[in-house]
Order: sequence, then C-alpha cells, then structure tokens
Amino acid sequence: MKLTFFGHAAFQLETGGHSILIDPFISGNPLAESVVSAADLSPDTILLTHAHGDHWGDTPTIASRTGALVVANFEITQYLTGKHGHENVQPLNTGGAVDLGWGRVTNTWARHSSSFPDGTYGGNPGGFMIEAEGKCLYLAGDTSPFAEMAWLGEDFDIDVAVLPIGDCFTMGHVGSLRAARMLGAGRVVPCHYDTFPPIETDTVAWSTLMTQAGQTPHVLAPGTSLEI
Ligand code: NI
Ligand code: MN
Repeated sequence: MKLTFFGHAAFQLETGGHSILIDPFISGNPLAESVVSAADLSPDTILLTHAHGDHWGDTPTIASRTGALVVANFEITQYLTGKHGHENVQPLNTGGAVDLGWGRVTNTWARHSSSFPDGTYGGNPGGFMIEAEGKCLYLAGDTSPFAEMAWLGEDFDIDVAVLPIGDCFTMGHVGSLRAARMLGAGRVVPCHYDTFPPIETDTVAWSTLMTQAGQTPHVLAPGTSLEI
C-alpha cells in the first residue's frame, strides 16, 4: 500500500491497482493546493470520516466526475445521494465493516462532532481501519484519544496509525502519544496540523516526543508518500 499525504487530513491510498481518496479537502486547503488539484484526482473509492467541510471538501465534484464509490456513515451517504444525486455509495456505521474487493474497511468510533457546512446533521464521526495486501492502516479521523483504542490495538495488527496532532479541534501531542501506545502501531503519521493558524504545531517536538516513547514517527510533507 502506498499512502500519499495532501495536507490536513486528505490522503490517497494506492493498493492493488485501486486508488482511494480519504477526506478529500483539496480546494481551499493551503497545504494541498501547491501539490495537487482536485481535477487531477481520479479515485475509484472515497472514504469520508465525517461531514465537516475540512474533510467533505471536494467530495461532490470528484464523486460526480469519477463515479467513485463513496464510503461514509449513513447520514453522509443519504446527503450525497439526496442533494447531489450521487448513487454509488456504501453506508457504513460505527463498528461495521465491508469488503470492497481490494480490501476490508471498518468504520471505527471517533470522539468528535459531524455536521455539513450548511448545518445539516452529519451522523456520527468516525475513523477507518483498512486491511489490504496483508497490512493494516488505521486513520483515526478527528478525535481525542479514547479508551477503546486499546481494543483496536488488540483486535488489529496495525502497521501504521494516522493520528491528528494539531490540537484545538482534535487531540494534540500528548493525546496522540496516548493513542499510539494504545494502538500499538509503532509507525505513526501525523495529520490535521499547520493548515490554519489555530492548528499550527511543532512537528520536530512531536517527533521527539514519539521517538523518546519508542514510537516511529513519519512526518510527511504534502505531496509525499509512505510505503506500508
Ligand atoms: Ni472535524
Ligand atoms: Mn477536521
């Protein structure tokens, strides 16, 4: 699996000839706009953790142009079909999993909120556990650490965990270390930082904190990738 970071919480995952976009906030994302444009992206699948604008992003335009399968909670898939006429959706609520042919995706809990930019209720926020090619990638979504992360660490042999570290709207440095320990991933990719002033952070300090605790941090510059 190849994981590419576009800044904020936007990622592209390439596995088995498939291209999966996660939380495609590209237009208006100052970190993404220098490395990619939404029009360049042609995923066959889009995964959405919740409905907030900095995750929902370019979903309607990319989905309608590509016809991609959109995997998200029930309320988000209903909204996408009802408001934007996109029928190719897979509703997936907390704790549920689905086999998508290229891999298995489980919707995990996230402690956050979820509403669309127009104020419509956006269902439960979540994260994703992605199993493909014998590897396991966890994207926590926007969340604080939560105690059930210890169960995820027991039930899944996580290779890489993607955790928010920017504080203010999600967990910060100390919270992400707590999460990483519970998950037992070892390799940790930070996200949800430096996009806007309220979430600017010191990634060198974060990396030092993680390394001293025996974790392996991978800070990805926007546009760069990690092989999993
Ligand atoms: Ni959010
Ligand atoms: Mn967010």
